[in-house]
Amino acid sequence: MKIALLGCGNVGTEVVRLLDAQRSDLEARVGEPLELAGIAVRRPGKDRSDLPVDPSLFTADAIGLATRADVDIVVELVGGIEPARTWITSALELGKSVVTGNKALLAEDGASLYEAAAAANVDLYYEASVAAAIPLLRPLRESLHGDTVTRVMGIVNGTTNFILSRMTQTGAGFAEALEEAGDLGYAEADPTADIEGYDAAAKAAILAGLAFHTRVTASDVYREGITEVTAADVASAKRMDCVIKLLCIATRDADSVSVRVHPAMIPNDHPLAGVNGAYNAVFIEAEAAGQLMFYGAGAGGAPTASAVLGDLVAVARSRRGGARAVPQSSYAQLAVRPMGEV
Ligand code: HSE
Repeated sequence: MKIALLGCGNVGTEVVRLLDAQRSDLEARVGEPLELAGIAVRRPGKDRSDLPVDPSLFTADAIGLATRADVDIVVELVGGIEPARTWITSALELGKSVVTGNKALLAEDGASLYEAAAAANVDLYYEASVAAAIPLLRPLRESLHGDTVTRVMGIVNGTTNFILSRMTQTGAGFAEALEEAGDLGYAEADPTADIEGYDAAAKAAILAGLAFHTRVTASDVYREGITEVTAADVASAKRMDCVIKLLCIATRDADSVSVRVHPAMIPNDHPLAGVNGAYNAVFIEAEAAGQLMFYGAGAGGAPTASAVLGDLVAVARSRRGGARAVPQSSYAQLAVRPMGEV
């Protein structure tokens, strides 16, 4: 089974390392050898001698690699809308299976990717796009397919959860806690997507689409970040025996869904109140299953690579078996309530 890896940053590097370290186990699970056909990077000449791969595998020609005739599976870890959408769509159209962690693309244009995958009868897996290692999408796509999900609620952004946790624990203001998050490597150099809630809104759209079998894009999600949360707000929540968390909340009723991301006060005895640091936790409520809670590391190279490799094994097995592992999303006729209407 030949794999093309597009992107070799934090997550891609861990994928390469873990694939090498666990190769024999993973190959046993798939039932045939897994071979890296190439790794597309911006600077192929950069010294990557610490990685256990032949340096000749690095190339700057991502589209050439993604569409190469001998490649079976494309793993896209570059992110962003373009050129990732073109690479993924071209690979799907040529009958290659795709694994991606690209939440921005899935939240903006997941529907066209699902359609391309369905037309070619190949798999498109993206567990790494939401909450890294925490199994969330596969349970929604598979395990809960016999049930009716009514609500998804949780903490899906590690950076903002770290910042709000520090504000609660130390009484620090937002700017100070943000600086600490940056020093510890949680916040990006440009933390806008995290602190303004865009990252959580993209994840909320993906979760809601799968939970309710409908199309939800990031622009359908009501969004408020945490930049306006002050030390005084946190202290006043504390006096009411509450904490402030950035929540994503997706609900459905008979004929519509509503998806929102905003800071919210949670009573200290609620399980989400105890989710601190860069961790994520998501509640899924379903009619028959009741309340389910998923908790763990929602970011970071190794936890995200774990999700990527899980998907890789699933799609490799399904290619080997000659059938898609799970059906692609089917869409019900549910209206998405306009932004701001909660
Ligand atoms: N910036 C994201 C977070 C990374 O802080 O949760 C994982 O998507």
